Amino acid sequence: MESFYGKALIIDNNHKFLEEIKDHSGLMDAYPCMLARSFSEANSILKQPKHRIRVVFLSSSIGESHGMSELKLIKESRPQLPVILVSHAPEKLPAEMKGPEVGFLKILEKPSSFRVIVSEIVELFKARDLWKDVQASSEEKDVELTLADEGYIPTLLADYVLTPKSFFNVFIKLGPSKFIKILNAGDVLQQDLIEKYARKNVKYLYISAEEQKKYINLCEEVSRKLLARADVSLEHKAKNVANLGANISQNLIHTGISAEKLDTANKFLNQSISLMRSMRIENASLKSFLENIELKEHPSSVSFLAGIIANEVGFESSKIIKLVGFAGLVHDIGLYELDPTQLHEAAYLKTPEGREIFDQHARRGAEILRSNGGFDEVVCLTVEQHHLRRRGSDSTKRTSNINLTTEIIGVADELQNMLSADDFTPERFDHFKMFILPDFSPQIEKAVTKLLARPEKR
Ligand SMILES: [Fe+2]
Ligand SMILES: [Fe+2]
Repeated sequence: MESFYGKALIIDNNHKFLEEIKDHSGLMDAYPCMLARSFSEANSILKQPKHRIRVVFLSSSIGESHGMSELKLIKESRPQLPVILVSHAPEKLPAEMKGPEVGFLKILEKPSSFRVIVSEIVELFKARDLWKDVQASSEEKDVELTLADEGYIPTLLADYVLTPKSFFNVFIKLGPSKFIKILNAGDVLQQDLIEKYARKNVKYLYISAEEQKKYINLCEEVSRKLLARADVSLEHKAKNVANLGANISQNLIHTGISAEKLDTANKFLNQSISLMRSMRIENASLKSFLENIELKEHPSSVSFLAGIIANEVGFESSKIIKLVGFAGLVHDIGLYELDPTQLHEAAYLKTPEGREIFDQHARRGAEILRSNGGFDEVVCLTVEQHHLRRRGSDSTKRTSNINLTTEIIGVADELQNMLSADDFTPERFDHFKMFILPDFSPQIEKAVTKLLARPEKR
């Protein structure tokens, strides 16, 4: 599975080194690289956003100027892209090329193997925002504050019972732009404080978007460690992976898409796949699994469910499951942009204004992704069509021109909406099986029916 989002581009004509790289196919899966033997080849790769190149390793032997003119050309079109100079014969490099002002991130001398490239990639993309270093912020506690809504992101209240001290500056939201700070970073977290808010029906605590990045790193670390342990229950693992996904999707929705966030999304999708695998090993019933864990946060839950369904439909490769999972994470991104109050999807259908927003959200979502560039067209199309169905009586929704990925997101969406509804009853479950599921392709219907009926132990 890929360990970072996107790819590295290696521009080199050193035959021995290129052959060495190709010998590491396993490592190449985890750290995807594209190889170019000439600068013109590299240039055409760089021009295509779909390749999502995030770092360039440029060999000094590629041109007359030891890489200087190539560096200039790269920086003209992609000024932020890190470029590392690879020198197989450092003694030949002019001294003036070695200063930091030249523009190379660093010079890699005589790399002996692909592992050297990998360690540079790891260093470059490792999470830098540690959660341990958050300081108390200047806002006063326990008074009403006016703060910009988009700067504060909801996190689930339940997470805060896990640590003895608050790692963050924590707020509750009273209404649009109105907040109260209830904790400073470093404050002792008293259990009764959290319980008090839970009793008042407060579900979310808010932290600043900046601090939330660090919070995601904390969730990622906790969840990764738990997944690796054999003595931890599947439900416990799932809860943490779901929490990580929830935070990542909130972060993507509230503050827009960036390569850094897609890196974190990639980590969630990797964890989500390893959780799915553990479920298969234990042959856990999806139905009882869903009853035991709370999959309240819509996009991340849809992502996880879609991955499981994709696997049941027969998609085996983790690459495709990740693509489906990613589509799940962003499928409603247009909805949040059209209406940042984030109501439950079903709530939009109750008023004509809501209906209008609902009708536009899928198309808008696809537009956001396409304008960002670099997303697989399958993902854009899936987002665009996720409310269409292959069968059924509603001619406004019915189309024969729909692919399996889109149907997987569609069914995961319906399933999550049903399970998370406050008025969920077993009758609604029957309704889902009788009236909603048959609108999908027989393949999907069969897979979901099987998943929901799978016995706990064979
Ligand atoms: Fe939707
Ligand atoms: Fe949805």
